[in-house]
Amino acid sequence: MLRPALVALLLQAEDTVSSIFAPVSTPAMKERDLSVLVLILSAIVFVVVGGLIAYNVARFRAPSKDPGTEPPQVYGSAQVEAAWTVVPLLIVMVLMLSTARVIHEVQAAPQPPNAVEATVIGRQWWWEIRYPKLGVVTANELHIPMSDSTIRRPTWLTLESADVSHSFWIPRLAGKTDVIPNKTNRMWVEPFTPGTYLGQCAEYCGTQHAHMLLRVVVETPERFTRWVEQQRQRAAVDPAVEPGRRTFLSIACISCHTVAGTVANGRYGPDLTHLMARATLGAGVAPNTRERLRAWVKNPDDLKHGVLMPAMQLDDKQLDQLVDYLVTLR
Ligand code: CUA
Repeated sequence: MLRPALVALLLQAEDTVSSIFAPVSTPAMKERDLSVLVLILSAIVFVVVGGLIAYNVARFRAPSKDPGTEPPQVYGSAQVEAAWTVVPLLIVMVLMLSTARVIHEVQAAPQPPNAVEATVIGRQWWWEIRYPKLGVVTANELHIPMSDSTIRRPTWLTLESADVSHSFWIPRLAGKTDVIPNKTNRMWVEPFTPGTYLGQCAEYCGTQHAHMLLRVVVETPERFTRWVEQQRQRAAVDPAVEPGRRTFLSIACISCHTVAGTVANGRYGPDLTHLMARATLGAGVAPNTRERLRAWVKNPDDLKHGVLMPAMQLDDKQLDQLVDYLVTLR
């Protein structure tokens, strides 16, 4: 049940590469260039050392009629010893200095005044995303504007964890950064190509570590602004789904979930004010369709074993009404 859903999801995802060798953002590009340098130098070392070993094995193999005596023993060669000391030293220096430069350029980059700020909070097993200055709260889907050759619009991310250690990784945008309880880490991304990029938790954090997916939607500044406006609105109120709304507000959903403009103001689970604006459910375990949403609410554990959201034991009618209401939250 889970597998086909996940496969379908991965296939429909626009970002099918998810590789550090296809960077679209400044830190990832610098890290890719460094990786290529390291790989090239390592390849040269491998070919030279492997080649010398192969040559010597072939050239100096024991003759078929081995007399059983030792070959001539050679001691001390200033040239050879200098070569195998100086060359590796130079290689290590080049690797060390170029790595230090990239680390400095990525970690010490000053935050420009127009940078978008977002806080990402790792939870078992999903990502809470808050834009404190924009008044937006969402989950598992990070929207950010793209930069272009004239204007830079990077996003500075503050990373926190509510429970155990996670690791935040969007291969095409930036390297991994640990997300650790009681510690605040910072990182930044600066994409130049619009699209949806997949990220994931890169550190084992419990049963559903593998299903802690993140989608990063990189869009033009105009579309990003429109998304922010839409996210800031209060939840839709549709009289046609009043029974479902009443069910939602009368059961335990409200102690974990927020729906702006209602008494539901829990913070333990994802904010549902604009639930249907998101593409997936349960941090990427299923596409966010009405059918899957119903299955999810009916028994979350079926889709995501170990999930902290309990099944609310609703009868079919209550469940239908509740889902009728949830799908109006756009
Ligand atoms: Cu969160 Cu692995």
